[in-house]
Amino acid sequence: MIETLLPEGARAREAFGPDGSAVLHPEEAALVATAPEERREEFTTVRGCARRAMADLGLPPAPVLPGRRNVPQWPAGVVGSMTHCTGYRAVVLARDTDLVAVGIDAEPDLPLRRGVLDFIALPGELTWARTPVPAAGRLCRDRLLFSAKEAVYKTWFPLVGTELDFEDARLSFRTDADSPRRGTFRAEVLRPGAGPDGRPVTGFEGRWLADRGLIVTAIAVPARVGAGSPGR
Ligand SMILES: CC(C)(COP(=O)(O)OP(=O)(O)OC[C@H]1O[C@@H](n2cnc3c(N)ncnc32)[C@H](O)[C@@H]1OP(=O)(O)O)[C@@H](O)C(=O)NCCC(=O)NCCS
Repeated sequence: MIETLLPEGARAREAFGPDGSAVLHPEEAALVATAPEERREEFTTVRGCARRAMADLGLPPAPVLPGRRNVPQWPAGVVGSMTHCTGYRAVVLARDTDLVAVGIDAEPDLPLRRGVLDFIALPGELTWARTPVPAAGRLCRDRLLFSAKEAVYKTWFPLVGTELDFEDARLSFRTDADSPRRGTFRAEVLRPGAGPDGRPVTGFEGRWLADRGLIVTAIAVPARVGAGSPGR
């Protein structure tokens, strides 16, 4: 399902339940040796997805270890992002000649816990999230906002290398004309930073969808002007 949010060049793999065939590299297994079973399973399944995405790019299977601030470390020349939530695990990878950064997030399509929306939302976002949604497009806007902000962070941090708080990005959403349960979003970064080439990073364009009880968001930053439009 996430591949419909991505441009050509990106390789997505996802799982809607545990993948008993996924195997960890020893360095990965050491990281979750004492973790609860649920964490071990999501960690293992999502790395199984990562290995399949590497194969899709023609790469040999490599461990995915956390770097600074837990950023996943990808093979040279590859950018990527991972997410897991109840009933869903996904990975997106791309050659850095196609994308300079990617960030994905998945959440259950359920209301946020009390108090979380006030913590993560700017005033305009709060108004939007609390506006009732027509029945055909029913989804938890507060959760969509949260997911998109997580995708922003997962795109931002590997690219810029500095922290980004929830109030540092202002999000706005559009719904596709042909479906009330998918669309686009724009994230304006209010505390811009610089990318690896020294150019300012001021915001991102993303896509979202709500399906199968999940909300999924994705941001893909094209490596060249003209690239990066969704291929499907
Ligand atoms: C790191 C964070 C974004 C993870 O999101 P989450 O919804 O809790 O969890 P998900 O399952 O979707 O994603 C987890 C994966 O994110 C990735 N991740 C962790 N830290 C990361 C970072 N600094 N940069 C990019 N990706 C990161 C990892 O691959 C991790 O999977 P793993 O633990 O199996 O290796 C979140 O916990 C967090 O710290 N958020 C606060 C910062 C933020 O969102 N600011 C808002 C800016 S507008």
